[in-house]
Amino acid sequence: MHFSVLFFASVASMTTFALDNGLMRTPPMGWLAWERYRCDIDCKNDPKNCISEYLFIDMADRLFEDGWKELGYVYVNIDDCWASMERDKNGRLQPDPNRFPGGIHRLARYLHDRGLKLGIYGDMGTHTCGGYPGTTLDKIEIDAQTFADWEVDMFKFDGCYSNALEQELGYPQMSKALNATGRPIAYSCSWPAYQGGLPPKVNYTQLGQICNLWRNYGDIQDSWSSVLSIADWFFNNQDILAPAAGPGRWNDPDMLVIGDFGLSMDQSRSQMALWAIMAAPLFMSNDLRTISSGARSILQNKMIISINQDPLGIQGRRILKEKNGIEVFWRPLLNNASALVFFSRRTDMPYRYQTSLKKLNFTTGSYKFTDVYTGQTDVLKDSTEFVVSVNPTGVVMWYVSAPGKLQYHPYFKGNKLHRPAYVAEENAFPRVFL
Ligand code: GLA
Repeated sequence: MHFSVLFFASVASMTTFALDNGLMRTPPMGWLAWERYRCDIDCKNDPKNCISEYLFIDMADRLFEDGWKELGYVYVNIDDCWASMERDKNGRLQPDPNRFPGGIHRLARYLHDRGLKLGIYGDMGTHTCGGYPGTTLDKIEIDAQTFADWEVDMFKFDGCYSNALEQELGYPQMSKALNATGRPIAYSCSWPAYQGGLPPKVNYTQLGQICNLWRNYGDIQDSWSSVLSIADWFFNNQDILAPAAGPGRWNDPDMLVIGDFGLSMDQSRSQMALWAIMAAPLFMSNDLRTISSGARSILQNKMIISINQDPLGIQGRRILKEKNGIEVFWRPLLNNASALVFFSRRTDMPYRYQTSLKKLNFTTGSYKFTDVYTGQTDVLKDSTEFVVSVNPTGVVMWYVSAPGKLQYHPYFKGNKLHRPAYVAEENAFPRVFL
């Protein structure tokens, strides 16, 4: 399809539906405990890595002090295994008293004082996936109110230990209940992941109306095979998934595992590039206290973040799958700019891939491109043949500005990333349930 047609089709679909709570007009960014810290509750022997308030305070300090917050990484999200095994005498969820002695409200205050936001986890069902108390249909209102009382900013609603009917009732009911608290709480739904991620079982129109983001697929693990299988599933199903995404409503391919143990530097660059093309939420699950400078520079790459955070919020697509193992991805951006990713599935040696912008469907004209990882920049005519050298399991990623304009994305002027005002002030939007 011609790019301008694709562009207008996407913009048209964008206006049709969205959870109108004013939140997450661009994909959320932050840190999430699960992949790296799982259900480690052994604070006696592993105090620095167990699920406790100290872990979240440590990560909040790092986000605040090490330049993450300014780039948009503002959420600090608790996942499973935070709760006490018993509800309190009023039927409310409560945190494990030994691991969260200050309580969740105080943790939220600590984060808010630093301009950060707190996310928490619950489960539509009798138990969480880790066996902690779940939220059955009769508990939805009280749990939503508890999170609002604690001044929580985001809620992930998992789906273990419930059936399809309970989920069909529970996920919309929780959306209404969160809305009814009057507190803006972004809502992450795992519902589609429990129903295979595809229509007819999954209704993406409805999800866009009730959730800000949703997990479509299985859990990420700290390995390249896991990252690749997730990326493949999302791009194989892009015709269904891409139209579902837009400001306020995002597909979630799961956490970034950059900075952990399983990915090489090239594979880390690939995850970051593909997640940016997908307009994916950027939740890191790693140890910000000890992260390497290489991983940090990938995660803090301003040009990629600005591509991920593009205000149009159009999810990009795979546009070519070559027999030689090279795949090309493209995402349209504000001001007729776009992002291109050349990805290699090969496992032999850097591959010299020859093409032209014309072959990639760009219209006639001159384009300025910047390699987002090397900073190399040049001007290309659509018809000019060029070669990119793509490492095994690696990427080359370009920011391409519109023909004739040759201007950079409005997000970065000089060295500073300029986020649109509504990103900083999203809580000022009234929360209106459709
Ligand atoms: C499920 C979810 C994960 C994580 C765990 C917690 O597997 O998909 O993201 O929340 O439960 O037990």
